[in-house]
Amino acid sequence: SQDPRIATISSAIRVIPDFPKPGIMFQDITTLLLDPKAFKDTIDLFVERYRDQNISVVAGVEARGFIFGPPIALAIGAKFVPMRKPKKLPGPVISEEYSLEYGTDKIEMHVGAVQAGERALIIDDLIATGGTLSAAIRLLERVEVQVVECACVVELPELKGRERLGDKALFVLVNGS
Ligand code: PRP
Repeated sequence: SQDPRIATISSAIRVIPDFPKPGIMFQDITTLLLDPKAFKDTIDLFVERYRDQNISVVAGVEARGFIFGPPIALAIGAKFVPMRKPKKLPGPVISEEYSLEYGTDKIEMHVGAVQAGERALIIDDLIATGGTLSAAIRLLERVEVQVVECACVVELPELKGRERLGDKALFVLVNGS
């Protein structure tokens, strides 16, 4: 007995085969944003889960964590902290590297955006290999912030990204392929 809103959300996500490369089934959440009911249901499901958990930080991962994170932060009374691609933030940053299939990437956060002892939720649209979320967790834990959970709209379970998060809890609304 799954929440009936999940089916609406799932059907509002458009899947585009072979984008950006052959073999990739791109999970396009822009169509979800075009459907106000499905978009609201998405935000509501996260808000219902996190509203009473004393979360003071919602950290969103560039770029699509910037779409889902802020409405959740506003609804639960938390601050929003952007985790950005390298060299975008103007102030002093801490950064965390993660490995890709070929090479590495990095995300950055402003020093002073969060304080030791705060409780954080990390939001992104999708978990694939889990590299991005694992770096986001390390970034917050380095400054002694407690990561309560990571949350995504879509998980690609075949890529086993969940395993890369260790024992950190991951909450997702729908599975993609
Ligand atoms: C996508 C997605 C996640 C990340 C997940 O972002 O929005 O942030 O990849 O992949 P992973 O679990 O294998 O780390 P993308 O790298 O396409 O960046 P963008 O949102 O800035 O376009």
